[in-house]
Amino acid sequence: MKCSIRISNLEQYKSACIVVGIFASRQLSLIAEQLDMISHGYIRSVLNSGAMQGSIGQTLLLHDVPNIIAKRILLIGCGKKRDIHQENYKKIIYKTIQQLNDAGLINAICFLTEIPVHIKGCNTYWRIRHAIEVTHEAVYSFNQLKSQKTLRKLSLRHVVFTLSVASELKVGTYAMQHGSAIANSIKIAKDISNMPPNICNAAYLDMQARQLAEEHNQRITTYSIGEKEMKEIGMNAYLAVGRGSRNESLMSVIKYTGALNVKTRPIVFIGKGVTFDTGGVSLKPGESMDEMKYDMCGAASVYAAMRVAAELKLPLNIIGIMAGCENMPGGRAYRPGDVLTTLSGQTVEVLNTDAEGRLILCDVLTYVERFQPETVIDIATLTGACVIALGHHISGLFSNHNPLAHELTVAAEQAGDQIWRLPITKQYQQQLDSNVADIANIGGRHAGAITAACFLARFAHKYHWAHLDIAGTAWRSGSEKGATGRPVALLSQFLINRANSVTRSS
Ligand code: BES
Ligand code: MN
Ligand code: ZN
Repeated sequence: MKCSIRISNLEQYKSACIVVGIFASRQLSLIAEQLDMISHGYIRSVLNSGAMQGSIGQTLLLHDVPNIIAKRILLIGCGKKRDIHQENYKKIIYKTIQQLNDAGLINAICFLTEIPVHIKGCNTYWRIRHAIEVTHEAVYSFNQLKSQKTLRKLSLRHVVFTLSVASELKVGTYAMQHGSAIANSIKIAKDISNMPPNICNAAYLDMQARQLAEEHNQRITTYSIGEKEMKEIGMNAYLAVGRGSRNESLMSVIKYTGALNVKTRPIVFIGKGVTFDTGGVSLKPGESMDEMKYDMCGAASVYAAMRVAAELKLPLNIIGIMAGCENMPGGRAYRPGDVLTTLSGQTVEVLNTDAEGRLILCDVLTYVERFQPETVIDIATLTGACVIALGHHISGLFSNHNPLAHELTVAAEQAGDQIWRLPITKQYQQQLDSNVADIANIGGRHAGAITAACFLARFAHKYHWAHLDIAGTAWRSGSEKGATGRPVALLSQFLINRANSVTRSS
């Protein structure tokens, strides 16, 4: 799928289809008005016949409109002009793309990027960027593993979005580059996440990292730490989690060097990459257990964010880590009651082998100290409790540094990839007290997302740190089952903002 931009000019288009908006009560958008003039009132007469009111998402496909070169015109309802907020804007574009594709069209020119969105921050950049992201979202399907790839065939190849004036070309180009890089990476994150656990194991994730390094060999290098090396280093908590599995644990490190000064302290992303979480000896119930193949969505999002950085050649140094392993029961598996000595030296009493994410992550949090990171952000499908707290719309944010939390909140807002901060105050730490070790790996029924984050916080004293719990947002269940690609947009936005502030200050 290709998206591009052009300056608005009705006359020159030979596109198969022109897309224009109709507001509520059959009010024509500016471009619809022009089409109406060219076609000597054809658009108005169709509307007056009662074919369409203009309520949001309504569509009407017109054929062979008089005096119009394009074969078709798609009218799309935009609702009340003053009600077009961000979500409605995205809904309208989404519906448009679906319609174009369902109608079997191959290319189209879409003037909807010119409709006014009356919300602060929704400038041309925002409109183009999100139109592109939504377009890719609307045509996504995972059918690599179907023997008959007939489902939802993709006809649409190319969509052009318009800019109302030439002076917007520069900002529009940025938006297109950013939007395309992010959208393509979201697609890749979804593909990796949707892969079944008999294919997508830690070695599979590692292979993705290596391929990325090959594609961007100027700026990306990669290495991986296997079980033998983990043992030598002392990453015993991470190792314990993977011990029940036949698939080797592998931590894949992706280094992106883009800063002018090679010595610039890096931003570190750490992604939970549990390619299947059975719960281990503390086995999960059978219902929906298949969805635990998504327990590596954090790692996939890190991979995708690294790809965005490379694609956009951001002037930053970034290290992305995919912490791959599999949590299985078995004769060699770790058990409730085991005490593990983490890489940090702190000992952990395992009270539940299903609280495995924090055990992997804690060792990686210590491991990354060697990079002297400026900022560390971990991304994990960490707790069912986070789903109870925030549901499926918003990811949980935890941080030991207020400015970082604020920075992420702003990025989330810009990216349309929402997060909400939860506390990690000292009081909660008591829930992790253990009689035999320094710390227990679970903190009881109450505030489970918070106690998990509090556990991690004990390993993140040496740098500014944030933790994103994406358990509720990384995938959808039911008939829509599939990875969402979140929070790739947020991570990408965070990097873009950092890159912009570097450029401004130099
Ligand atoms: N990967 C799960 C968290 C999860 C569960 C995400 C359901 C999305 C949906 C994690 O490893 C886990 O099992 N957490 C336990 C922790 C508990 C044992 C303290 C949980 O949330 O039940
Ligand atoms: Mn678990
Ligand atoms: Zn898990």
